[in-house]
Amino acid sequence: MLLPLNDDTIMSAASCLCKGGIVAFPTETVYGLGADVFNTTALARVFEVKRRPYFDPLIVHIAELSTLMRLVDYTAMDAEAIRRLKKLANTLMPGPLTLILPKLPEVPDLATGGLKTVAVRFPKHSGALALIKNSTGAVAAPSANPFGYLSPTRAEHVAEQLGNDVDIILDGGTSEIGVESTVLDLSSHLPRILRPGGVSREEIEAFIGKLDDVRPEHPHTEEPVRSFNIGQCLSPGQLKSHYAPRTKLFLLDTDFLCKEAYKRNCAYLFFNTVSFDLWKKNNPRAPLNGGHRNIFILSHNGDLRDAASNLFEKLHCIDAAAYSAIYAERAPDKGLGRAINDRLEKASNK
Ligand code: TXA
Ligand code: MG
Repeated sequence: MLLPLNDDTIMSAASCLCKGGIVAFPTETVYGLGADVFNTTALARVFEVKRRPYFDPLIVHIAELSTLMRLVDYTAMDAEAIRRLKKLANTLMPGPLTLILPKLPEVPDLATGGLKTVAVRFPKHSGALALIKNSTGAVAAPSANPFGYLSPTRAEHVAEQLGNDVDIILDGGTSEIGVESTVLDLSSHLPRILRPGGVSREEIEAFIGKLDDVRPEHPHTEEPVRSFNIGQCLSPGQLKSHYAPRTKLFLLDTDFLCKEAYKRNCAYLFFNTVSFDLWKKNNPRAPLNGGHRNIFILSHNGDLRDAASNLFEKLHCIDAAAYSAIYAERAPDKGLGRAINDRLEKASNK
């Protein structure tokens, strides 16, 4: 059932969650598919509806910091880790930041993929917060898309992809940020980013100092993940192929993209107008303006926030039009550009 987001529908959706239902709801990053984290039957439905493997853990969404007490084992954290947690809680939360922290035994293993840690996020979206507060206060929610596919930034994306399998879809319009939260591991000795996202590395480092530089591509991991033979990967969502459109995507540096000859049946995704203009010079047969149906520009003036918020929207659009391939340009590798490149790289590894 697709319902517009308002006080009444939030209360109905909250009551649905309390009864073990599953609800898709908007957040500032992307839409989530929520279930009460303490209801394992409801959690199992989320995995089933998404066709998500059980080893891939969920993020628990909270609406007040005190809920951390019900989820996190502070005794397993050293003084430095607690200091970092406090600092981030006071500065970047609520917001597009997910923290990986040691879990209390009460948090079901199903929610955490059998890991000893739990992912927690305090979203900055009034509708999401009201839903969480009025239900059980701790709502496990992966992005509301089939496993491995593009994340939804509008309620229609959820309705198209998961439709009748979800009890309620709350329509809160287009997600403001448009890429998922940054996943930051605070459970290990040195904090590190497991997934670049809505908060940049630079913003986090401004509050807690330098982060570990090692990209968690093939780090050691805990047993449950390895046993599913998906490679050694610390955060299961860091699988090399993920967030992928159905159309084959080639990710290129600007100069390579500019040398790529124009093909009518392909889609071109440029970061900004400057690179589109450059490419046009090399491709006299290419369409004259960015408004042509197979030309897509993430942000005309190259604004990273703008580009991030358009990324999944454009990819959904391209996928619906059934092009033979997508040629995409890499964004500048800084701030939100890292999250954009991460999603494009994963999409290109399909
Ligand atoms: O912005 C977001 O984060 C959205 C909205 C709905 O909040 N949620 C989201 O959830 O993107 P999902 O399930 O699509 O991605 C969660 C990521 C996955 O890569 C997962 O492997 C990782 O977080 N994750 C969850 N728990 C973890 C844990 N205990 N240790 C390491 N990684 C974890
Ligand atoms: Mg996801």
